[in-house]
Amino acid sequence: MSDFIIEVDNIHKSYLMGKEAVPALRGVTVKVPRGEMVCLMGPSGSGKTTLLNLLGGLDEPGRGHILIDGQNVVAMDEEQVARLRLHKMGFIFQTFNLLSNFTAFENVEAPMVLHGTLGRKPRRERARLLMEQVGLADRMDHYPSELSGGQQQRVAIARALANDPPIIIGDEMTGDLDSQTGFEVMTLIRQLNQAHGKTVIFVTHDPRMADFADRTIHMLDGVIHREEHNHDLGERT
Ligand SMILES: Nc1ncnc2c1ncn2[C@@H]1O[C@H](COP(=O)(O)OP(=O)(O)OP(=O)(O)O)[C@@H](O)[C@H]1O
Ligand SMILES: [Mg+2]
Repeated sequence: MSDFIIEVDNIHKSYLMGKEAVPALRGVTVKVPRGEMVCLMGPSGSGKTTLLNLLGGLDEPGRGHILIDGQNVVAMDEEQVARLRLHKMGFIFQTFNLLSNFTAFENVEAPMVLHGTLGRKPRRERARLLMEQVGLADRMDHYPSELSGGQQQRVAIARALANDPPIIIGDEMTGDLDSQTGFEVMTLIRQLNQAHGKTVIFVTHDPRMADFADRTIHMLDGVIHREEHNHDLGERT
């Protein structure tokens, strides 16, 4: 097995706008070792979301290879990609994307229903445990509209963890939160990374959130133009 849980090799991606191809990624190579927490930064339009979408198999690159836990996403059909996503990756978005007609508890339970491995009782047990883990034991039966932004994002984190994926992918997950709440969410993510060995790759515009990562990759116009390792984390966390 490869030491890298995510391997992106020289990917290119263009979007077709009418007859014109708009390049979004122009030869990006990223290797993420198991258990690393990586931050992606860069100006609007530099290709960050495009890269995350390709990792999740939500879109296809024009060129290049993407291996997730040794499996070639680019060669998979839609069903295989969906299964890979369900087992290997938990996604967290800026706008939480919870199902509004479902309670917090049901939102966390939903991916396990899709996964189909756990029976009803152990599934509900696990949903309860995850809600406790994100500090929302007393909010199980609330609907998303009855929760604060930070609480909704913690439900989304619990949901992302439902099937115990080794990888967490976040796109501006603190973007809609005030900085105090954003810090709480990032502290939780960092804890999942350090205590549970989750590999994390997340996009942020906020340098203070980038400080939570082991490494920051700076993108510009569809390429990686700079990377830096954060060495002082041991003292801070
Ligand atoms: N569906 C699409 N159709 C056409 N062009 C797109 C599409 N999605 C993204 N693009 C273009 O691809 C480039 C990269 O977009 P992307 O969303 O990856 O940027 P980003 O770094 O995530 O920006 P932001 O920080 O604003 O979220 C941009 O030039 C954008 O206009
Ligand atoms: Mg984006």
